Amino acid sequence: MNKKINCREIANSIKLKIKDEILEQKINPCLEIIQVGTDFASTKYINNKIKVGEELGVKIVLNKLSETITQRQLLKLIQEKNDNPEVNGILVQLPLPKHIEPKIIIEAIDYNKDVDGFHPHHLGKLFIDNPSIVPATCRGVTHILDAIELDLCGIDACVIGKSNIVGKPIVSYLLNKNASVSVCSKSTKNLSQYTKNADLIIIAAGAPDLVNYHMVKKNSIILDIGINEKNGKITGDLAISDKLINKIKLYTPVPGGIGLMTIVSLFENLLNLYKTQNKRK
Ligand code: GUN
Repeated sequence: MNKKINCREIANSIKLKIKDEILEQKINPCLEIIQVGTDFASTKYINNKIKVGEELGVKIVLNKLSETITQRQLLKLIQEKNDNPEVNGILVQLPLPKHIEPKIIIEAIDYNKDVDGFHPHHLGKLFIDNPSIVPATCRGVTHILDAIELDLCGIDACVIGKSNIVGKPIVSYLLNKNASVSVCSKSTKNLSQYTKNADLIIIAAGAPDLVNYHMVKKNSIILDIGINEKNGKITGDLAISDKLINKIKLYTPVPGGIGLMTIVSLFENLLNLYKTQNKRK
């Protein structure tokens, strides 16, 4: 039995829906991506977003800025994009150079144009179980959980990673669905104490092989959000082995897993922002 969740298939079906809606409504949403510096991984992620955006019929403008741009200059550019009615979505690729404070940049983006859903307005709404724009990786996770028809009510979940943009939104989502959630990190002293008890493990720690066969419960479901480079290859945070695959129920691969879901969810967010801005149903 294939225990690998087919994220490509789930992502493609969402992509089709977005594409059909854009075609049907004859609209052309515009996303402005801002990249500061030339970080290799960021360039790769941005190129993937541009490729999917173009397939969907979205207009994407890439603003490439020098690593030495000041925070004030970046804030000015964001304000221009906020004020431009032709712009429906704004994404500032993270991480930013050390002299720029990401929290200030995230809050400077008009939340009505925040495709990432990182603005405290959106995070707060998710926290109080009245979500609007959900951070794209969390949204991607929710699509997977829906696709595998996992009833979250009453299950034991373990989330490893507590970032504001991935771990904490996922924790809020699971709590809203009445799961019992342990929140861990790669510093958790006895991680397996938590993972061994979990029906659902979501790992977003950025630590290769953090979770292995010995640490998981039989028939558990594992969603791996880690992206690491190991011996020149991209791997997640889960140590895949035949023994592990035999023991668990389902898992997401890396690459070809959550990453695909994050990108399509980003464009789903863009379409929803477009509709709110234009008051379309
Ligand atoms: N860097 C890595 N992933 C992301 C993302 O989803 N959004 C932004 N803005 N930066 C990122």
